[in-house]
Amino acid sequence: MTTSKTILAIESSCDETAVCIMKNYQVLSHQIYSQIKEHQKFHGVVPQLASSLHMQHLRPLIEKSLIESSCTLQDIDAFAATTGPGLINSLMIGTIYAKMFAGFLNKPFIGINHLEAHVLSPMISNSEIQLPYLILLISGGHSQFVIAKDIGKYEILGTTRDDAVGECFDKVAKLLNLDYPGGPEIEKIAKLGDENRFEFPIALKDNSCDMSFSGIKTFVLNLIKKHEQNLEEVKFDIAASFQKGISDNLSYKLNLAIKKYLSLGYKNPQFVIAGGVAANKYLVEKLKNTALQNNFFTHTPPIHLCTDNGIMVAFAATKYYEKAKFSDLNFPNKSKWPLDTL
Ligand code: KG4
Ligand code: ZN
Repeated sequence: MTTSKTILAIESSCDETAVCIMKNYQVLSHQIYSQIKEHQKFHGVVPQLASSLHMQHLRPLIEKSLIESSCTLQDIDAFAATTGPGLINSLMIGTIYAKMFAGFLNKPFIGINHLEAHVLSPMISNSEIQLPYLILLISGGHSQFVIAKDIGKYEILGTTRDDAVGECFDKVAKLLNLDYPGGPEIEKIAKLGDENRFEFPIALKDNSCDMSFSGIKTFVLNLIKKHEQNLEEVKFDIAASFQKGISDNLSYKLNLAIKKYLSLGYKNPQFVIAGGVAANKYLVEKLKNTALQNNFFTHTPPIHLCTDNGIMVAFAATKYYEKAKFSDLNFPNKSKWPLDTL
């Protein structure tokens, strides 16, 4: 065991550039630049634009975080960066900075898996959450039920066979002429609609913990075609019914995931929802109820820790630092990096 010290961590896997300096789990500084506005006009993340914005913003964010934390680069004990999964050119920018600092200052480098950072994020603000737990990771790129056994040890119980939940929210929002990212926009207008007006099917009514969301998106597309003439009026009901449909699908699979988790001998009745979509209060409330019916308690990180941020990367890096698990300077960036291959 190594005593945890001061970590500088960088997140640049998608459309958030973030830097966190963390000392013994205390955030000394967190600087984040969200590129959302820049990508909004394209209704999605443009990879080339993302990497050039990371390039433009990362250095000033590092400088700000050093000033805010009253640290010099020499005070940092290890440099960490998200090394995957994500947009390869974006990942590379954060990684190059962290590796250069580590190499020149002869300090350890720690490559962090973005999904693991999300999976561990509920523990940042709630010390009562103990591993192992069952987690539903729902973001723009991933949707999976995972057993978080220990740092670096994960078992995937089920995953999406097509779109991720966040991707589905984003695509449906685009169909409804809403802004990117679609999740918060749909949640907002769904509050004004009737969730029972349209009944969405359970897409994968089987015994697996796998999920499917592309059919749900097609279901919306058909509703839109049918109501083309009065879409502006019907879109609130579509958004509300869609959100309920997603929550029914996730609840159906949560029941199965809990059964599977228990059948594998895990007893800790803790269910965690993490990733950007966990910012959706409606979904979380519905899943909380389903978990409670199975006598499971639900935890979600606060919203600023659900969406991409540097704190979760610094937190995961601190866990690795404590185990003295460091990465080589030639540790690769990976656009795909499943949690069960760490
Ligand atoms: O974890 P995240 O910030 O980035 C990825 O690693 O993908 O997740 C972004 C995703 C987007 O698809 C966005 O639409 C979705 O999370 N999201 C939401 C909400 N806030 C963000 N989805 C539904 N409801 C929300 N309130
Ligand atoms: Zn993420």
